[in-house]
Amino acid sequence: MDRRNFLRAAALVGGAVAANKTGLLPSPSSWRIAQSPGSAAGGPLYIPPTVSPKALTLTARATAAEIAPGVSSPIFAIGNGPVAPTIRARAGERATIVLRNELAEPTILHWHGLRPPEASDGHPRLAIGTGAEYRYDFALNERAGTYWYHSHPHMRTAAQIHLGMAGLFIITDAEEEALGLPSGARELGIVLQDKRPDEQGRISYNVTMGHDMMEGLLGSAAYVNGVRTPSVNVDSAMYRVRVLGAANARIFRLGLSNERPITLIGTDGGLLDAPIQLPHMDLSTGERADLLLDFSGLAVGTRVKLQSLAFVSPYRGMGGMGGGMGGGMGRGMGGGGALPQGAAMDLLEFVVTRSVRETPRVPSKLSTLPAIETAAVSKERVFHFRSAMMQHSINGKDFDMERIDERVPFGATERWVFVNDAPFPHPVHMHAVHFRIASREGGRNEIFPWERGWKDTVLVYPGERVSVIAKFDSYRGRFMMHCHNLEHEDHGMMMNFAIE
Ligand code: C2O
Ligand code: CU
Ligand code: CU
Repeated sequence: MDRRNFLRAAALVGGAVAANKTGLLPSPSSWRIAQSPGSAAGGPLYIPPTVSPKALTLTARATAAEIAPGVSSPIFAIGNGPVAPTIRARAGERATIVLRNELAEPTILHWHGLRPPEASDGHPRLAIGTGAEYRYDFALNERAGTYWYHSHPHMRTAAQIHLGMAGLFIITDAEEEALGLPSGARELGIVLQDKRPDEQGRISYNVTMGHDMMEGLLGSAAYVNGVRTPSVNVDSAMYRVRVLGAANARIFRLGLSNERPITLIGTDGGLLDAPIQLPHMDLSTGERADLLLDFSGLAVGTRVKLQSLAFVSPYRGMGGMGGGMGGGMGRGMGGGGALPQGAAMDLLEFVVTRSVRETPRVPSKLSTLPAIETAAVSKERVFHFRSAMMQHSINGKDFDMERIDERVPFGATERWVFVNDAPFPHPVHMHAVHFRIASREGGRNEIFPWERGWKDTVLVYPGERVSVIAKFDSYRGRFMMHCHNLEHEDHGMMMNFAIE
């Protein structure tokens, strides 16, 4: 895409925020965070409403919400809250959803991790204008799991997700219910992001042409369900916490401040075969982690933080940039006090407010994972991810909405190899399929425990070559593969493939 389009998009952001300030857009929502005794500096965790996907209307609008105590900020909402409602359904149900666009710009919704037909997949070329409606109708023939949905218009995905247009889409089934995992108030869904609040604590989507466009926007503070470093009251018991990485560019290394291990029970495409105990795990944009967190035996008043632990940034400096970006490209140069990739951050504080006597029970077997179908592979395709001069490309090509880059026969099992030639990490996502990670060569050189099971997004560090195996048997039609770093996907690192 060209620079002119980018500038137009940038101007649109400024315009939307200005319109909000002058009150031209709908008045602030009535939504307020309820105050609770255990609230930390950040205020209580916002819990979005849970809705069924049956006959559901979702309205996208510019509004305002309380994103920190006493701070009302302009946001882009699906509904009213700072993150979208949680959609919850049972496997086998149908989603019949109407998207109404009340934003002053085009939008469309994509159901990330679900495999609807092309017409319901939210391809950017299906974006609708102000005042228009889009009807989705698709079957939810998926495993129980933590999926999500977000806006997906060409060149405006980053701004819209950053400003609030993302939510969880949870699917349950009988197999999962039989496990007796923590549920009800003991099940939480959290959308992780980072943003750069201004002095008043308000957010906007303000990216600089230089560093933000290359590494992606890195924030100065974490937002969980749209609220700055919130807290939530818990019993001294085990909780199920479904975590979504939805930041523009940040990778989270999830761990607990009291150094208890976390128990991973599911990844992008649902439950693992067996739980895995981990001191910490990494989560990039688009990835999900289904966790059991154990607060049992902790005294009332104990505070435990979910944190992003410090790690060495994968950013490789100027080396592979192809020149041209000049000096101001160091880590964390994005402005607004941005924390560099890999900086430690507090995310969410759990406050034990009620003592219960229950022995936490973790099922030893969760589900069945078939072996990776290496023998069924009929073709290998290799994709090079490059970044240079504020352009992000796949196999040297800039995204073109109408061009079909790969054609895959319906029903084929293929090996797709993602090679990162850029100095930045790329979380690579495929629509229409779930895949298994078969190998990682170079860079970190291993497949991590949190990359087991069915995936739809995989983090590829600079210098890595990651191969995944997928079966293209959902529907015939046009789908996409792209980097899920939001600035990268908006600026060219995206391609179409057709299943035919
Ligand atoms: Cu979550 Cu095409 O994206
Ligand atoms: Cu997707
Ligand atoms: Cu990328």
